[in-house]
Amino acid sequence: MKDTAAAASRHAAWRWTGAPLLVTGVALAMWSAALAGAGGSWLGGATLSSLELTVLRWVAELVGYPTDTAGILTSGGSMANLGGLAAARERAPERDGFRVYVSTEAHYSIAKAARVLGIPAGHVVTVAVDGEQRMRVDALAGELARARDQGIGPGVVCATAGAAATSTTRRGCSTGCVPPS
Ligand SMILES: Cc1ncc(COP(=O)(O)O)c(C=O)c1O
Repeated sequence: MKDTAAAASRHAAWRWTGAPLLVTGVALAMWSAALAGAGGSWLGGATLSSLELTVLRWVAELVGYPTDTAGILTSGGSMANLGGLAAARERAPERDGFRVYVSTEAHYSIAKAARVLGIPAGHVVTVAVDGEQRMRVDALAGELARARDQGIGPGVVCATAGAAATSTTRRGCSTGCVPPS
């Protein structure tokens, strides 16, 4: 908490995004509770499953992924980050030494997810940001080159669109998933 507060005060950010209450969110939560459906299973709740598949297709279209892209909706960012890291590690050719590259501005839930997955804290590599709080690609390249030289890897690069601690999001975030091998 102290670290988060310190991170938030590092920058001249003039706003903080709280959690605004959305009427649609309340309505959907009530609808979901009324259906008492298990969204994870077609038999348990086909309505919620259809809804999930539809939203996933919309998101895939929005980001330019193939329309048959699979995914899940989670209860929030922490669970999404946990699932994303688990999926990345699952796809890695080997688990040993798996590294997670995050910017110094990444949301702390990524480090938390790494801990839950049993990834040692030292394997979460923080990469410096530029004056606009974007991950510095040269610093990332340096970390990946170091990993390659030391025979470390593979890993996943967690892109952060802006700074989670201050809610500042600017154009031009510039990372992706790069196996350092
Ligand atoms: C980038 C990012 N990741 C993860 C989270 C955590 O999300 P949640 O509180 O829904 O678990 C947040 C919350 O604001 C976030 O901004």
